[in-house]
Amino acid sequence: MIGGDGIGPEVVAEGLRVLRAVHPKVETTEYDLGARRWHRTGETLPDTVLDELRGHDAILLGAVGDPGVPSGVLERGLLLRLRFELDHHVNLRPVRLYPGVRSPLAGDPSIDMIVVREGTEGPYAGAGGVLRRGTPHEVATEESLNTRFGVERVVRDAFRRAARRPRRHLTLVHKNNVLTKAGDLWSRTVAEVAPEFPDVTVDYQHVDAASMFFVTDPGRFDVVVTDNMFGDIITDIGAAITGGIGLAASGNLDPSGSHPSMFEPVHGSAPDIAGRQLADPTATVASVAMLLDHLGHQEEAERVEAAVAASLAERAGSGSGAMSTRERGEDLAARAAG
Ligand code: NAD
Ligand code: IPM
Ligand code: MN
Repeated sequence: MIGGDGIGPEVVAEGLRVLRAVHPKVETTEYDLGARRWHRTGETLPDTVLDELRGHDAILLGAVGDPGVPSGVLERGLLLRLRFELDHHVNLRPVRLYPGVRSPLAGDPSIDMIVVREGTEGPYAGAGGVLRRGTPHEVATEESLNTRFGVERVVRDAFRRAARRPRRHLTLVHKNNVLTKAGDLWSRTVAEVAPEFPDVTVDYQHVDAASMFFVTDPGRFDVVVTDNMFGDIITDIGAAITGGIGLAASGNLDPSGSHPSMFEPVHGSAPDIAGRQLADPTATVASVAMLLDHLGHQEEAERVEAAVAASLAERAGSGSGAMSTRERGEDLAARAAG
């Protein structure tokens, strides 16, 4: 468990409450990482902690980032370092409108897609540099890293997921009309892997148009595969159209199982509401369901999923939206415990 910063510890406490309710035998270790530790020791993620984390089955993370720490120090030094070191190349982000939840979109659309976001490459890899900093001639470059190996493994993962879903449809989202080098690699890779999955239909959309269709016609998407950066942006849109960022769950997976996968809400540390029990822990609890499913505890995962769905349906009906973080967690835990 890594609570992290801001609302992170508040929502992770509720995730743990629900996890314990369905799986009382779970053994957990809490790690104090984030802004407090950085201020105290200057450390973001010590190697010794990373090594210990490797010995766990899974990681539940709240959020990372604090206004008192220079932007990027914790995000890169802790969160991205975990994703990279643990080879979390599949960043799985379901975008689903639960029954009873109101989408801000007109016409009460049905939304049920899954974004497979690459998790270890793209501009996140950190290539690039700064020249003549602070001068009028400053130059800053951020290079996007795309390897055939990295693209192919996430594309193949997305095809596999699409093949298991009823609609069996995969959309590649990129910007191959401008990013002609990386875009070409992604497009060719999809075309080359596609024959292995003859039942999956494939299409392509530029990320700007995809962003538009997320809000005008989300029903056209089933599985979306995209790079790290585009995936970050479109999944916040995905959250917004399905009831808000407080509901959006994610998993950072190493599907090979060589490293522990990490589950976390899509949202950040929300400094504007931190420490006041205002955060919705539902996204974290839904991430716990993904964690249980990943570890092979399907029955428990389904109970947590059902608890989330029931609580959202009731909330829609009764306007019980004013629960505190803890009250919401207790409600979800009681439902999941049955
Ligand atoms: P954010 O997601 O933290 O907050 C955006 C808005 O959504 C805020 O108004 C916030 O109050 C609200 N919100 C977020 N989670 C909520 C919840 N569970 N319940 C109710 N409202 C919620 O994004 P931001 O403001 O862009 O970033 C804040 C910090 O978090 C930054 O330091 C950023 O780097 C970091 N961040 C971390 C992660 C992560 O750890 N995975 C993700 C995104 C942002
Ligand atoms: C997310 C976040 C992170 C990302 C940041 C905090 C590094 O926005 O998990 O969506 O960009 O991946
Ligand atoms: Mn994000």
